Amino acid sequence: MDDAAGAAPMAPLFTPYEIRGLTLRNRIVVSPMSQYCSVEGAPTDWHLVHLGKFAMGGAALVFCEETSVSEKSRKTYDCPGIYTDAQAKAWRRITDFIHGQGAHAAMQLGHAGRKVATRAPWDGFAPLGEEDAAKGRPPWAGIAPSPIPFRNGAMVPKEMDADDIRRVIALHVEAAQRTLDAGFDVLEIHGAHGYVIQQFLSPITNKRTDAYGGDLAGRMRFGLELTEAVRGAWPADRPLFFRASCVDGALGGWSLDDTIVLARELKTRGVDVLDCSSGGIEGPLTLHLVPRVPGYHVPFAERIRAQSGISTMAVGLITEAHQANGYIAEGRCDLVALAREFMWNPNWPVHAAAELGAGNPLDLMPRSYAWWLKRRAEVAKISAAASAQPAAE
Ligand SMILES: Cc1cc2nc3c(=O)[nH]c(=O)nc-3n(C[C@H](O)[C@H](O)[C@H](O)COP(=O)(O)O)c2cc1C
Repeated sequence: MDDAAGAAPMAPLFTPYEIRGLTLRNRIVVSPMSQYCSVEGAPTDWHLVHLGKFAMGGAALVFCEETSVSEKSRKTYDCPGIYTDAQAKAWRRITDFIHGQGAHAAMQLGHAGRKVATRAPWDGFAPLGEEDAAKGRPPWAGIAPSPIPFRNGAMVPKEMDADDIRRVIALHVEAAQRTLDAGFDVLEIHGAHGYVIQQFLSPITNKRTDAYGGDLAGRMRFGLELTEAVRGAWPADRPLFFRASCVDGALGGWSLDDTIVLARELKTRGVDVLDCSSGGIEGPLTLHLVPRVPGYHVPFAERIRAQSGISTMAVGLITEAHQANGYIAEGRCDLVALAREFMWNPNWPVHAAAELGAGNPLDLMPRSYAWWLKRRAEVAKISAAASAQPAAE
């Protein structure tokens, strides 16, 4: 239906979104995707092209992959970090490019805790061993709330003492400062997927008897202190996101009700958006507890939004324009994040805008493409009209 001025109302997926000092051009976010091709913790030309093409394709916010706060908190030797000035400089080249395409850039800060020192996914995330050491890639020790290995054959992590807790928080603060130097607009704390923050949250991995364990308040303490410290180091006009595993994906673990309590606490500490994911505490085999249906985290995002008042981002098998638009239109989440679909189609937002009739889709593209594609569309229209004319006698 047309509005009073006669123009069709904009599809909700393509309405701008304001958070703190930021206006996103639409509600479409590129979800973090680890690439395992950093060199000495620095992003490379691969990352420039990988992330740059999503900005060229019309996404509003482009997340880089999980980026470590220290060398030893990385999952693999090929994961990136932001613990040196050289790494921040390498990220700056990428954020400058993203900004040049009209998109914004988001950093995801992480610490893998007990899940460090593994091989890449195509090698089954196997713990590094002697064979790797012989190739100059020896394993190193992880740290965790409790000394429980991630899986059989993995190293037993060192139980974090008070100094370790202070140091990990301080590393996040330093990384937040470098994230700013690197030109990112949004910072996300990775509190999901079985990494150190979730290791504290979940009763499966946190068996501590001190103030950082025990009941829900105790298990949340580390994540909340870390969030407060990061918020203090991250400018007040820039949004802070927190990715949570809304459920562990394992029986007897962290629950959705727990996430709602956490979301309320995070909100009072200045977190703007809860990025709703799941799983990771005990490895991929447990993930079937969250069935992989289209939009599988949307019910979590909806309930958390309604019951905690925090804004939410939903992710997980969001692939269709009308599907994504419906979630925003129905107020089930504020932002949608897509990962694998962007690998399949980096111009997904342009195609979604065309399907939803949202403005001129080519306005989302760089001029060097849009000018030609608009001409091509005009030529196609003219030739279609000509072929529809009855043939002259
Ligand atoms: C290649 C790949 C790498 C990923 N790396 C990260 C990561 O670094 N941090 C993170 O929080 N999630 C990561 N994820 C999870 C995605 O952000 C996303 O939540 C998940 O793939 C579901 O969304 P999708 O169905 O649109 O792919 C990764 C997913 C893929 C496919």
